[in-house]
Amino acid sequence: MAKPESKPKEKILVTAALPYANGPIHLGHLVEYIEADIFVRFLKLSGRDVVFVCADDTHGTPIELAAAKEKVKPEELIQKYYGEHTADFSAFHVDFDVYHSTNSSENKFYSDLFFKKLTEKGFIYERLVELTYCENDKRYLPDRYVKGKCPKCGAEDQYGDQCERCNSIYQPVDLVEPHCSICGTVPVRKQSLHYFFKLSGFSQQLQQWLDSNRNLQADVKNFVSEWIKGELQDWDISRDGPYFGFKIPGELNKYYYVWLDAPIGYIAATEKYCRDRLDKSAVEAYWQNQNAKIIHFIGKDIIYFHLLFWPSMLLAAGFNLPSDIVVHGHLTINGEKMSKSRGNFLTAKDYLAVAGHEPEFLRFYYASHLTKAVSDINLDFGDFREKINGDLVSNIANFVHRSLVFLNNNFDSKLESLGNEEKFFLQQLQPKCDAVIKHYGDCNFKEAVKGILELGSIGNRYFQENQPWQLVKTDKKKCHKVVSVAAAIVRNLAILSFPVLPKYSEKILRLLGYESTKNLGLGELDKPVPAKKILAARIIFAPIEETISIAHVFPAVLKVGRIEEISEHPDADKLYVLKVDIGSGKQKIIQLVAGLRPHYKKAELLGRNIVVVSNLKHAKLRGFESQGMLLAADDGGRVVVVSPERSQPGDLVYPEGSDQEKIASSRKQLAIEEFYRLNLSVKDEKIVYGTKPLRTAKEIISVDAADDAVVR
Ligand code: MSP
Ligand code: ZN
Repeated sequence: MAKPESKPKEKILVTAALPYANGPIHLGHLVEYIEADIFVRFLKLSGRDVVFVCADDTHGTPIELAAAKEKVKPEELIQKYYGEHTADFSAFHVDFDVYHSTNSSENKFYSDLFFKKLTEKGFIYERLVELTYCENDKRYLPDRYVKGKCPKCGAEDQYGDQCERCNSIYQPVDLVEPHCSICGTVPVRKQSLHYFFKLSGFSQQLQQWLDSNRNLQADVKNFVSEWIKGELQDWDISRDGPYFGFKIPGELNKYYYVWLDAPIGYIAATEKYCRDRLDKSAVEAYWQNQNAKIIHFIGKDIIYFHLLFWPSMLLAAGFNLPSDIVVHGHLTINGEKMSKSRGNFLTAKDYLAVAGHEPEFLRFYYASHLTKAVSDINLDFGDFREKINGDLVSNIANFVHRSLVFLNNNFDSKLESLGNEEKFFLQQLQPKCDAVIKHYGDCNFKEAVKGILELGSIGNRYFQENQPWQLVKTDKKKCHKVVSVAAAIVRNLAILSFPVLPKYSEKILRLLGYESTKNLGLGELDKPVPAKKILAARIIFAPIEETISIAHVFPAVLKVGRIEEISEHPDADKLYVLKVDIGSGKQKIIQLVAGLRPHYKKAELLGRNIVVVSNLKHAKLRGFESQGMLLAADDGGRVVVVSPERSQPGDLVYPEGSDQEKIASSRKQLAIEEFYRLNLSVKDEKIVYGTKPLRTAKEIISVDAADDAVVR
């Protein structure tokens, strides 16, 4: 069995990339935070001295844009997201030792320190640059304030700093056909004096570091070597105000570019951690000590920053280089890139809102797919269900439960000491445990999970073959030993799956006599199960019936209805009052008030099928209650009622690919603004949500209206 190392403890600092404080944590982010958390938990379980740090990345134009949009100060916005992010992490058991903010005094201190050191050593110089400037908004347009075509690959609608298609980094003035992202104006060029970091001077040292570092992934090394060969451009590290960030000392209206102070946030968070523990020397103990290791977890989109800019800054300022940078791929959902416009953007909270969706199921699913490779990870809803119900519940949880319940019911929950035969059986499983441990250490969680499942299968088989339910009648003593062996396997499964399933494991270990998992170590794998008497086992994981789907991000319940009665509103000359049959349900006939009198005669509407938003908050329109809303397309002039002819009253209407049936009944009431935010519109005479057309089981709904007509 792997033993904790005996030499003086090396300090390990693990970081995950700092999420931007302008949006919620989503399932893509969680790939990284869960991956890093599993690794940290494993290191701690192995007795290593590890600190896990992270923070919100709070500066830069996107944050400023988001704050302006919500009409709040950036400070308020980042405070709000700090609360949301930390709550989401804790819900998914991502257990940082410190979670800080880049908008902090510690970060200001270290950003200034780096800037000063780099300046003193001659790595920073000033140069006049041509910038995009919007004469309408009277401001420079850095990074995300300007959009256009990527100068490298030609992708449309790209921001001024980096192309989302080819990942290349460039300057806003390099954009082809640029426009201001605030007002759409074509920007002019204007000069400004900026600070540059001499990245070009670090090619050799960077290449040496890449070549000598044996932990880095080969793909990533190749990628970065190509960049170095293609010559590195010096890096513009300043931005003109207005900008939300740290002002450069001695400057009136210039700020550090967010990507200068963001990685320094790792150091600031370390400082915060140490200070909170009254440990004064410790930042150096992690960042300037040869007997320390820094390991970064990042996504593939930020390789450039972490493998070129950041190591150069560290070299220049005399700090340790990372010993490893573990790069993961992106999350796709059912094979598609996750995005709001596709309607498959799932936040941490969306996931938690689905009944029966344990946060640990997502941890288990990601772990089952994560290797130390840069390839993308696909969350396939069918595969998700299989992995949870088939592997986690039927294999692991089932074995745990049947073993412990058998002890509860037949042996008064007591454990029997093991004979040689049983000990020998357990010893044979040790190489399997060791393999799991090795895979964890290599960040190959997919294989670690496989190994755990194999142990679960062995346990199940052992139980099945020994038939304790028979044996208990013929040889009770032997039977007791058999189920006590099973309990030892259960304990080992709980320890080995602890990094992935910390809460589940903890529950099992408590049943088996462990007081807490705080100082749990791998050494426990060799020891007898501590309990004299185990506690009563309960079912912890039940199979999932409802899987998450894009239906969960489409909160409206739409139904086909038929207009049965129609009359003019007595007090409003634009409104009709309609009685609509919406099929079965609590209420078969509902009343709607609709502003269709300028567009339709009564006879044109009577008897027609329509689509009704049936979970809208009820409203009173000029004294008449409207219990929903019918959908119509409006292309600026014409208003066309949406009318699915081949469907029946009561049929559900939903975006293609989303299984509404199961969840329609659990949807909450929507405010009209929430419904408008879905931005339903017309494409090719279909009504689309993102790219998905609305349909019933029988037909894709068509409407005779121009492209981009609004549907509401
Ligand atoms: N703020 C920067 C990081 C600064 S680190 C000094 C940033 N923030 S982010 O919120 O956009 O992303 C945070 C991390 O989550 C990054 O490592 C990023 O790669 C990862 N992911 C964001 N979206 C992702 C997916 N859809 N899939 C997998 N990981 C993704 O970048
Ligand atoms: Zn503008």
